[in-house]
Amino acid sequence: MPLRPAIDSSAAWRALHAHRTSFAGTTLNDLFAADPARGERCHATAAGIYLDYSKNHFTDTTLSLLEELAAVAELPEHIVALFAGAPVNRSEQRAALHPALRGAAPDAAIGREIEQSRTRMLALAQALRAGEIRGATGQVITDLVHLGIGGSDLGPRLVVSAFAERRAPSPRVHFVTSLDNTALAAVLAHCVPATTLFVLASKSFSTLETLSNADLARRWLGAAGIAADHIGRHFAAITSKPERAKAWGIADDRILTLGEGIGGRYSLWSAMGLPIAVALGPDIFTELLAGANAMDQHFRTASLRTNLPILHGLLSVWQINFWHHGTRAVLPYVHGLRHLPDYLQQLMMESLGKRVAQDGRELTIQTGAIIWGSEETNGQHSFHQLLLQGTQTVPADFIATAIPHCDAEPHRQLYANCLAQSRALMVGQDRATLEKELLAAGHSGAEAAFLASHREVPGDRPSNTLVLAAHAPACLGALLALYEHSVYVQSVIWGINAFDQWGVELGKQAASAIGAALVGADASAYDSSTRALMARWNSAGARSD
Ligand code: F6P
Repeated sequence: MPLRPAIDSSAAWRALHAHRTSFAGTTLNDLFAADPARGERCHATAAGIYLDYSKNHFTDTTLSLLEELAAVAELPEHIVALFAGAPVNRSEQRAALHPALRGAAPDAAIGREIEQSRTRMLALAQALRAGEIRGATGQVITDLVHLGIGGSDLGPRLVVSAFAERRAPSPRVHFVTSLDNTALAAVLAHCVPATTLFVLASKSFSTLETLSNADLARRWLGAAGIAADHIGRHFAAITSKPERAKAWGIADDRILTLGEGIGGRYSLWSAMGLPIAVALGPDIFTELLAGANAMDQHFRTASLRTNLPILHGLLSVWQINFWHHGTRAVLPYVHGLRHLPDYLQQLMMESLGKRVAQDGRELTIQTGAIIWGSEETNGQHSFHQLLLQGTQTVPADFIATAIPHCDAEPHRQLYANCLAQSRALMVGQDRATLEKELLAAGHSGAEAAFLASHREVPGDRPSNTLVLAAHAPACLGALLALYEHSVYVQSVIWGINAFDQWGVELGKQAASAIGAALVGADASAYDSSTRALMARWNSAGARSD
């Protein structure tokens, strides 16, 4: 796809800037007062997801101008390119094939590779669930320890924890990411070597944390008396580098693969989903993919004004670039979705945290927002004070379920809190009304004015509300696909690559060099802060020897 001029040099971009000025003083309350049916009008539904985007600062003119911006960015053409398997990841000359994992592959060869990989993964999962996989001593595997990090952990972890009540009793599935060995130790304290299988999940098969934990696991098995040439019975691998897994000592029939065109943060739909299929069963894994595929088809075919990923993505661009809101909170009112903010943090920040366009030109506009959040109503007792009365505006995505995913009464309360917070952010509580109430309660004029100044909630703070038809695998699949495609929409508007992550390499290389300097390598080239901190570590080590 030929590269186009920077989007902020376009007339559509300039028109949005001018339009933004027209919003001066127009509040969300004004928009609802001018159109009482706004809430009914400004929603879109697809694949079991209801998106209420009405509590954002936009008018029909805004949407028209965003539509023009999408046309200038050739969004429709880029959507076709994504599903056609074009090299949308220019810096690595790769396609982004996550849609193909749950739907039509761009060509027969890719389709066969995906099908074979999924079939092998589901077969291993089924064998583990049926107690057909035995360790070196012939005992059935009762515990699966998934060793992975980032996209090789967050997706499977999210889905397995989302439906914990539907987990099979055996094998128990555990997740370990940390380089801090106490994390693995805490899990192994509840495992028996003879009945434990480790899954070495690493697309690159070179990630320090995962390989370190795998070595610890191998030593743990050896210390339990499992012979070195039998330890391989206690490992499997999920990787794009099968030759490295084999060299590490994993048997061919235990190596599951995913193609290089599957980005780590987009990989839960691939063989990386093994823990999902083990814990929840092949049917739930298949339902998850079907939900994502339903959102894929919606994304490919729905008009802009009814397209959930496009609406979410374009309104994100509007808020980031024209309202300068540099962060977004993700607030799920479902305990099972407590890991969703972490998952979306990687998906959105590792995809959109870019400063150059696909052709390498440095950008002059803001790109990816800072994504964060927590299970609700926990956040209401933690950071909602800042959301409501802080000096920064933080757009929020509220997520709830229509059908109870828990008992009816707590579900009613959760849903009420979700709506209450979204409304409080928009409507606020004005000072004059507060003063009148305080005066009526007997406070003096000065007291009423003082207290009202502290109690005032400014309001006019935007949010989306996404209501899942049910807390079900298909709805979760659709929700995650919605966010994947919203990310893609934003990347296309900005002209950036959503599928590489060169920045993280620097940290990995630096850590390796500093680690060597901590044990004697030359540190003279480092800055005085790093050198002083190294000395701190060394002196502490000297003291503890
Ligand atoms: O953070 C960098 C990164 O490469 C992520 O993109 C990836 O999900 C994670 O590390 C783990 O990588 P791997 O699956 O290769 O171990």
